[in-house]
Amino acid sequence: MSISILGAGNVGMALARAFVAKGESVRLGVPEPAKYHDAVAKLGPAASVGTTADAIATSDVIILAVPYGAAGSIARAVRDWKGRILVDATNPLAPGLAGLTVGTTTSGAEEIAKAAKGARVVKAFNTTGAENMEDAHYPGGSVFMPVCGDDADARARREGIQHDRRREHGRCALSRRQRVHAGLWGRRRRARARRGACDLDRL
Ligand SMILES: NC(=O)c1ccc[n+]([C@@H]2O[C@H](COP(=O)([O-])OP(=O)(O)OC[C@H]3O[C@@H](n4cnc5c(N)ncnc54)[C@H](OP(=O)(O)O)[C@@H]3O)[C@@H](O)[C@H]2O)c1
Repeated sequence: MSISILGAGNVGMALARAFVAKGESVRLGVPEPAKYHDAVAKLGPAASVGTTADAIATSDVIILAVPYGAAGSIARAVRDWKGRILVDATNPLAPGLAGLTVGTTTSGAEEIAKAAKGARVVKAFNTTGAENMEDAHYPGGSVFMPVCGDDADARARREGIQHDRRREHGRCALSRRQRVHAGLWGRRRRARARRGACDLDRL
C-alpha cells in the first residue's frame, strides 16, 4: 500500500525520501503538481506527484505536511474519511513564531480531528526538524518522536510513522504536550545557529 503525503516542501520531501529509502511507495499531493515534477522524479519510480485530491484518494495513510492554515480546508474537503489514517505533522505557528494560532486550550491535531469527519488522526513528526525526519540518527542515538492519537490501532500502525524511537503517548489531546518538544527543538536550533555551533541542515 502506498503512503500519501500532502505537501512537498521541507517536510513532505524529507519524509518522501525516507519512505522511498525504506522501500515504500509514496504519492505526493500538492496544489500545482507540475511545480514539483522534477524534484519528485529524482526520488525514483516509487514516488509520484499529483493533486491534493488525487493523493487523498490514493491511500489509506495520508500525511499532512502543509502549512497549518491549509490543513482545515483539506480536512473538510473530504465528506467522510472512512476510517483512514491522517497523520498530522503540522504546527499551528503564528507569524514570526509569535505563538500558536489555536491558543493553549486545544491543539492543531484536535482541530484537524474535528474537521476531518471519520478520519483517525495521529499527531507525529511535528516535534523535530525535517532533516531529522529523513535521518534521525546521531552518534549519541536517534531523535525521540512522540506519537498521539485517539485510535490505538492508528497510533500503532507502522506505515506512515516509521521511526526508530517513536513513543506512543495516547490520546489526541496529549499532542498539546508535543508542542513543548517542538518549541524546545526550535529554540535549541536557533540558539546553536546564532553561536555558529551547528550546521543548520543537521540539527
Ligand atoms: N520545516 C520543518 O522542519 C518542520 C518541522 C516540524 C513541523 N513542521 C510543520 O510541517 C508543515 C510543513 O512545513 P514545511 O517546512 O514542509 O513547509 P513548506 O516547505 O512551506 O512546504 C509546504 C508544502 O505544502 C504545500 N501546500 C500548500 N497548500 C497545500 C494544499 N492545500 N494541499 C497540498 N499541499 C499544499 C506547498 O505547496 P506550494 O509550494 O505549491 O505552496 C508546499 O509543498 C508545517 O505545518 C510546519 O509547521 C515543519
